[in-house]
Amino acid sequence: MSADLFTPLELRGTEIPNRVMVSPMCQYSCEGRDGLATDWHHTHLASRAVGGAGLVMTEATAVEPRGRITPHDLGIWSDDHTDALADITASIREQGSVPGIQLAHAGRKASKTRPWEGSDPITDDDGWETIAPSATPWPYEEETVPTREMTSDDIDDLIDSFRAAAERAHEAGFRVAEIHAAHGYLLHEFLSPVTNQRDDEYGGSFRNRTRLLREITTEIRDVWPDDDPLFVRISATDWLPDRESWDVSQSVRLADDLASLGVDLIDVSAGGIHPDQQIPSTGPGYQERYARRVKQDSDEDVAVGAVGGITTAEQADALVRNERADLAIVGREHLRDPYFALHAAQELDRLDDVEVPVQYHRAF
Ligand code: FNR
Repeated sequence: MSADLFTPLELRGTEIPNRVMVSPMCQYSCEGRDGLATDWHHTHLASRAVGGAGLVMTEATAVEPRGRITPHDLGIWSDDHTDALADITASIREQGSVPGIQLAHAGRKASKTRPWEGSDPITDDDGWETIAPSATPWPYEEETVPTREMTSDDIDDLIDSFRAAAERAHEAGFRVAEIHAAHGYLLHEFLSPVTNQRDDEYGGSFRNRTRLLREITTEIRDVWPDDDPLFVRISATDWLPDRESWDVSQSVRLADDLASLGVDLIDVSAGGIHPDQQIPSTGPGYQERYARRVKQDSDEDVAVGAVGGITTAEQADALVRNERADLAIVGREHLRDPYFALHAAQELDRLDDVEVPVQYHRAF
């Protein structure tokens, strides 16, 4: 029998109770500029666990201060961050959901104001110099944030930061780690020839452009427990067909490489590397086809998550039933409806297969 939305997903020694994942979504809500989780993060993430999602993923969590998109992003570069996150993972687990953390570095897209403040480059003392594979800043129309080409020492430090972040994430109680290598942030900047003009062993060929991600994956897998799954979020395509760029066939090849290094699931998103990108559609399931390509064409037995425009129970269920993806990753619909998974179970007549909080039993 094929799986459906409420069939648990077994990855290594971890059972995700259903196929609904809360997509990582920045809240830009740290009160100071210290990257520490607040009541807002706790309420936001725990509510989605109450709402029945099998896997609740934190927002992009910066492995070092320069890796934040805005000064208000979540971080995991010190033990204080671990303590602040531990209460959140406990609440998520209490609801029977699996807590996941997205480990991130914003690269040249760092040092910006929050979306509701304009997402503008910060050019005063509140901002910072960003780092990237090459010294090409994000092409803002106005002033730019200075961007420095990473030295080989920077690269070594970055690998150490990802490794240390994974160790802290485990201590904080997370059971899934996701490396953010999508949306034009630092690791994607290394993958894509649009942003990577290096002439050392981290630039040029496919093997060289993917080297940093492979090295980080290896380091994280080394410290991440054997029973706990490791995900990587990629942008399957740069949506820049008019120039040399990252595309789906490279993504399939990368998925195979990552799987052989111990990655359990590829979270397939798209875009974000350059403002000239041409998005073919933003309708229902607009990135599904890339997830399906990775799943079908990969030689390795790697699970795949689909994200983008998934808003209904029927759509999410069909995705899994038709084996187009193993996990339905739901972003904005979870902001509109924290109870997306419970509502889906209700609609699909599967309430017996989810944990409805006893306090809410008369509602579902
Ligand atoms: C996002 N997205 C995102 N992606 C990611 O990998 N890390 C992140 O921290 C964020 N932050 C974020 C904040 C907010 C407010 C939104 C709306 C989106 C992208 C998100 O995870 C998802 O990929 C897209 O929103 C597309 O999925 P939906 O929303 O159509 O289900």
